[in-house]
Amino acid sequence: MAAVAERVFSGVQPTGNLHLGNYLGAIKRFVELQERFDCIYCVVDLHAITVWQEPEELKRHTREVTAAFIACGIDPKKHIVFNQSQVSGHAELAWIFNCVARMGWLNRMTQFKEKAGKDRENVSVGLFAYPDLMAADILLYRATHVPVGEDQKQHLELTRDIAQKFNTDFGPSLSGLGFGEGYFPLTEPVIAGPATRVMSLRDGSKKMSKSDASDFSRINLTDDAEAIAGKVRRAKTDPEPLPSEEAGLKERPEADNLVGIYAALLDGTKQSVLDQFGGGQFSTFKGALVDLAVEKLSPIAGEMKRLMADVSAIDAILADGADRARVIADKTIADVKDIVGMVRR
Ligand code: TRP
Repeated sequence: MAAVAERVFSGVQPTGNLHLGNYLGAIKRFVELQERFDCIYCVVDLHAITVWQEPEELKRHTREVTAAFIACGIDPKKHIVFNQSQVSGHAELAWIFNCVARMGWLNRMTQFKEKAGKDRENVSVGLFAYPDLMAADILLYRATHVPVGEDQKQHLELTRDIAQKFNTDFGPSLSGLGFGEGYFPLTEPVIAGPATRVMSLRDGSKKMSKSDASDFSRINLTDDAEAIAGKVRRAKTDPEPLPSEEAGLKERPEADNLVGIYAALLDGTKQSVLDQFGGGQFSTFKGALVDLAVEKLSPIAGEMKRLMADVSAIDAILADGADRARVIADKTIADVKDIVGMVRR
């Protein structure tokens, strides 16, 4: 196999209301990976339109995710930040993968089953083919490491299956062209640290979600210090003091969630948080959590606001990122066309 450099790719959908869950579960880790890898971070607008998006909102949300990336510390000069639809290779490779993946594979995707529910006949074809586009995103850059949440693991397994079937189906063509054994790498998921699953502040058994009716259930990345403090103070808890050992969090989803958030914001472990606050009352811990959350998150909101005030600067960053992404993508598309047997100029 041709030596493939290590490269990180990940995507975030521009569907609005970025919150603490997106930060701790995804964007904060994207920031950390910049130290060790060449990274490509993509605002996946083609994925977003698998369900209806108001056109003006889609634009605004695309710029908002871009602003969030940068406000959180992603460097768009050293790494690549762009929106998916500006690089046509994503759609092209996704089509080819539609012809590699099997109906049976996609039929097993739990996210599709959940999103489609009983309305299977009425959802878009795109929603069904969504994982093929995701595989295309990753393999277009032959990315080796993909940071994602638990819920995307099945899609990454599918990405490996597609890569493997492509490599096998086109094996003779690959060796004929001098690509050796396999063209696409088998991508690894990057495993998460603590609190990658941030739960609702109102109900510790539900994921923090942009679509929860109560704004008190989530901390938005655009919330100012006052809003953050109010939401943490009002977060649901139980009447017991905090346990001293992590095992004591087991049947206490709200306590577990808040301790997990504190640990993740500080890059510590839940146990280290309990070493400090175990045995104490919730009110003391909540006071400390307010201070920590405001300290870590309110500068992000401020920076996002500043960036969003200059749309043309954000668009310039996206255009520059797309230009640099396209250089890599075009090479892959040319190789894939040769491998599959498409005549090209
Ligand atoms: N499906 C991912 C999500 O909803 C977003 C995504 C699209 C993605 N393409 C990707 C993530 C490629 C990682 C790699 O979270």
